[in-house]
Amino acid sequence: MKKSLTAFFVLTAVMASPAMAEMPGKVLHDDANCMKCHTDNPYSTKKTPTYPKLVKAVQFCNDNLNAGWFEDEVEQVADYLNQTYYKHPKP
Ligand code: HEC
Repeated sequence: MKKSLTAFFVLTAVMASPAMAEMPGKVLHDDANCMKCHTDNPYSTKKTPTYPKLVKAVQFCNDNLNAGWFEDEVEQVADYLNQTYYKHPKP
């Protein structure tokens, strides 16, 4: 009983912490300074009409900039950009 109560409080504290409020993809995206170029060159569904193309585009800029993201991090950033800008249905 005591143990499960402790677990409950730890879990509540973790979920309420500010770090959890932001998507992991947003943190990666902000850290990599992507907006240095994409403020003048805004993300657009015209250039990136589907979710798989969005993942490819994120991978492309990741490679070019040597951001060094792993595949799952590229996915997280694509997810964040999709929810914020593109709103593509995910396959
Ligand atoms: C040095 C400038 C520069 C930086 C920094 C940069 N990009 Fe790009 N990005 C480009 C260019 C150039 C293109 C392709 C040309 C175009 O817009 O058609 C592009 C295209 C894209 C696209 C697809 C285009 C669209 O409008 O949908 C995405 C998504 C993208 N970048 C994500 C990122 C992410 C994520 C980062 C941070 C890791 C990043 N970019 C950093 C220059 C940059």
